[in-house]
This record gives sequence, structure tokens and C-alpha cells, in this order.
Amino acid sequence: MSRLVYVLNGPNINLLGKRQPHIYGHETLADVERDCRTLARELKLEIKFHQSNREYEIIDWIHEARETAGGIVINPAAFTHTSVAILDALNTFEAPVIEVHISNVHKREPFRHHSYVSLRADGVIAGLGTQGYQLGLRRIAKLIDEKPTAKA
Ligand code: DQA
Repeated sequence: MSRLVYVLNGPNINLLGKRQPHIYGHETLADVERDCRTLARELKLEIKFHQSNREYEIIDWIHEARETAGGIVINPAAFTHTSVAILDALNTFEAPVIEVHISNVHKREPFRHHSYVSLRADGVIAGLGTQGYQLGLRRIAKLIDEKPTAKA
């Protein structure tokens, strides 16, 4: 199985570090990307790291991942709670999907308690801060390592 993993981020995550730091912390998205790249080297994964405020771009990256990737770590941000289109795109992807939320969405407003993406995700990490991305990568690496290779 491919060791390429897409790490995808939804709207407003570009403002990490500046946006409501009491909820999302002081680390920037560049810090998260750096930590993911460092860990990916250790886990022998290749990563594509993206953020967009536009739903269609996230969908296009999921379609790209279908062709090439062994897993997706996704923080869909507010699209988590609204996007049937992202759920539909993830349902076309066959390898592992881990949903990550920096904050504990279940401790927050009721509208954050429902996730369309969780209907597809193989695992969900919430409330562990930006460490959630690294735990998501570790899980995907384990699933890839455990997957029996197809016999010729
Ligand atoms: C978030 C939680 C969402 O409810 C919110 O809309 C976000 C970020 C998180 O990482 O905690 O933008 O996905």
C-alpha cells in the first residue's frame, strides 16, 4: 500500500495561533506542518499537507488521494458539521481516514457535536490539541504496516 498520506485542513485553520488561542492554542499551521513532516520521516511516510477555506478544493484533494494515497488525516473544521459533499468524497476513498479536531468538539456548542465526516472516518481524535495530527499519522502508519501485501 502507498505510504503517501494526505493531511487536509478546512476553513480558518490557516489562522491557527491567532484564532481563539484559548481554544486552539498558540501553535501555527506552519508549526503543525513542520511537526507532521518530522514525524512522517520517522514513520517513513510521505505527506501532502494542505489547507483551504474552499470546500471544492478539499474535495479535489480527496479525489487526488484516491489515485495515490494510503491514508488521509483530515481536520475538516466547520465543514465537519455541514458538508455532505466532503463525506461523499471520503466515501469514494478506500484507505484509512482519521478525523482530527484540535478542540474537544463534544465539550462545545451542540452544533459541533454532529460530524458528517465521522460517518466515514475509521477513527476520530478530538481535544488533544495539535498533537492529534501526529497521533492520526501514527495510526495510519500502523494500519499501512499491518496491511498484508497482495500476492503477485
Ligand atoms: C475544529 C472544530 C470545529 O468545530 C471548528 O469549526 C473548527 C476547528 C477543531 O479543530 O477543533 O474550525 O475542527
